[in-house]
Amino acid sequence: LVAGVDSSTQSCKVVVRDADTGALVREGRAAHPAGTEVHPHAWWDALQAAIADAGGLDDVEAVSVAAQQHGMVVLDEAGEVVRPALLWNDTRSAGAAVDLTAELGGPAAWAEAVGSVPVASLTVTKLRWLATNEPEAAARVAAVCLPHDWLTWKLSGQTSLDAITTDRSDASGTGYWSPSTEDYRPDLLELALGRVVALPRVLGPAELTAGRFGAGAGDNAGAALGVQARPGDVVVSIGTSGTAFARSSRPIADGTGTVNGFADAEGGHLPLVCTLNASRVLDATARVLGVGLDELSALALGAPAGADGLAFIPYLEGERTPNKPDSTGALHGLRLDTMTPAHLARAAVEGLVCSLADAVDALVALGTPVERVLLIGGGARSAAVRQVAAAVFGCPVVVPSPSEYVADGAARQAAWAASGLAEAPLWSDLASTTVEAEPTPWVRERYASARDLTVDR
Ligand code: XUL
Repeated sequence: LVAGVDSSTQSCKVVVRDADTGALVREGRAAHPAGTEVHPHAWWDALQAAIADAGGLDDVEAVSVAAQQHGMVVLDEAGEVVRPALLWNDTRSAGAAVDLTAELGGPAAWAEAVGSVPVASLTVTKLRWLATNEPEAAARVAAVCLPHDWLTWKLSGQTSLDAITTDRSDASGTGYWSPSTEDYRPDLLELALGRVVALPRVLGPAELTAGRFGAGAGDNAGAALGVQARPGDVVVSIGTSGTAFARSSRPIADGTGTVNGFADAEGGHLPLVCTLNASRVLDATARVLGVGLDELSALALGAPAGADGLAFIPYLEGERTPNKPDSTGALHGLRLDTMTPAHLARAAVEGLVCSLADAVDALVALGTPVERVLLIGGGARSAAVRQVAAAVFGCPVVVPSPSEYVADGAARQAAWAASGLAEAPLWSDLASTTVEAEPTPWVRERYASARDLTVDR
């Protein structure tokens, strides 16, 4: 047996699977506080509860932890957490991102150095924010790591700072590790924090630490492992974040900063575009309309494609792609006849999907082939989202049956590490539903003209 963990922005899930076949044996879950600043102890408590809910891990040969990317976990000499973690969705370091970008000579220099251009999500900008705004806390920092690194370290029972490990995928989201040279850039850490501190050792994709703990992964790389993505697949995930990513054999350096040139959890690369507004666009719209998510979907499917010209720009929490941390959402095209719950529901679903279509376009512009879109995450449960996605993406949309892709990917990594094989074991294909629809290019055109009117606050 092997186990995989997904410590996400909202909760913790644990799956226990058969190492050879991938069959699900047990699972467990527990919620932890969400938000943009969370104490790591809350993740630890949820992990303990989820493990107990899954019947414990005593009989498990190997376990890997995947988690939300980029979160800044800072530890002092004694290994204690210095302050609550700033998460990927915390935008307070947007100014630090602008400063750091200029200090290295502009976006292209960063893309060249570490595959990504700093935005508020990346760990490096959070460290700069800390150094500037909380110098006393910054002075106590002896090590910095990421959510999955910290949880793996705690789970393995180790206590020394030099026993903390990470993997390539999560290291590549820090802004101070290069996916092309596979090395840290201590100079960039120093640029951000003013000095160099201890960093986790980067394990290979199938390496173990402390006997039975896998390298782990960032959640998106974990999902890529979990859905067994193949060439021609673009994965679109609608969770708390929206992401579009594909596996690639070469490192990516996008000087525009739209595509993050991350590493994957299999020894390759994972160009990725991330948006801040995804499943909560659906939640917020349902709340305003006073309906549940199923009813929201039914309402949306009851309105015509294009919502008679009503366009919804979903930047409800500022936005990362496009990089407009201070932007707000907008509704364009309100008339008496479009002021209906069905039009609003349709426009919200279309706005969400169009923002992700912008993300997929950015991958395509860098040469990523798209034969099909694998749609995952909580938002993929919506029939309206599936239908609109097929029409807006203009290619088949494959929705794997509900499963815990990130935790599954971590479990698959654990099985790989335990097996000693050269590649991750292929587990039987997931059952899935394929949705096809007539393309609706006018929906994106209307969205794009409304989007281009969006201004920062
Ligand atoms: C990716 C990103 C998010 C988080 C969410 O760059 O910031 O997808 O990993 O968990």
